[in-house]
Amino acid sequence: MSDPFSRIARRLIDESSYRQELAEVGAWLVTERYRPFVVEQHLRRMDYILGRLPPGEPAGVYSATELDAVFSLECSPVSRRCRFAATHRVYQRFLAARARLRMERSGDRFADLRQRYDQFLVDIRGLSLSSRQHHAQTVADFLKRALRPRQPLKTLTRADVERGQQRFNIYCSPCHSRIGDGNGMVVRRGYRQAASYHTEKLMKAPVGHFFDVITNGFGAMPSYASRVEPDDRWRIAAYIRVLQFSEAAPLDVVPAEMRGELDKTPETPKPTLAQGAAQ
Ligand code: HEC
Repeated sequence: MSDPFSRIARRLIDESSYRQELAEVGAWLVTERYRPFVVEQHLRRMDYILGRLPPGEPAGVYSATELDAVFSLECSPVSRRCRFAATHRVYQRFLAARARLRMERSGDRFADLRQRYDQFLVDIRGLSLSSRQHHAQTVADFLKRALRPRQPLKTLTRADVERGQQRFNIYCSPCHSRIGDGNGMVVRRGYRQAASYHTEKLMKAPVGHFFDVITNGFGAMPSYASRVEPDDRWRIAAYIRVLQFSEAAPLDVVPAEMRGELDKTPETPKPTLAQGAAQ
């Protein structure tokens, strides 16, 4: 029978004190189609990390907090960069796939949000289980780093949204325009019509959808993953929500003293025939 592992991976497994666990993680990485070189890198790091986890042979069950405690030793206290971040994610996904990730009540503040996002990914995007787990992991990572314990999601606003606005204006508005109607400069010069964020579909889409589109691209729109780092993708996503909301805010969310002002704003002009035809 041919060995699913490269020669190097095989040696890492055979020489490890955590032979069984490394072999299982390695086999999972292979079925998830990781390249041999990447498999080797993860196995090398896992061999190092496993010595720190509480012993749980042969198939220990760990909580996300236990994993965090161990992997965070590899993070720089100054830059907060984590050398083993990718391996951390991979191992957590592996444990989840093997039903070996212990659920935690307290760490589950956003369980409902994540559940709805997951459902959306199934219904609208039709993503596979492993992509969905990957998304869920990214969301969880972000929430953990962006929010202090007990801080509710709503407090992730001002500074983040302002940064989101700034990034949006750099990366997205050339096509989507500053108000998000899809008629940015580039489009006016003849590039393909970009999407308006004010459609019913996108109004109803969860914030994670915008993260997804920036990360993976969508139809004719390329991915911006190499230019916009994950945290900024969330900030842009949050800012798009604000844009949508500011275009469609129902009256009762406007402070009472300002409602009179709103009544004075002129009605949006009816689209002319030419604009109508361009839709
Ligand atoms: C070069 C032009 C261009 C840039 C820059 C651009 N987009 Fe797009 N975007 C498009 C086009 C074109 C579409 C429509 C794609 C299609 O339907 O095939 C689109 C579609 C979208 C959609 C709608 C997806 C859906 O579900 O229908 C979202 C959301 C979106 N873009 C977000 C962004 C964000 C956020 C940025 C900035 C990080 C961005 N775009 C930058 C051209 C662009």
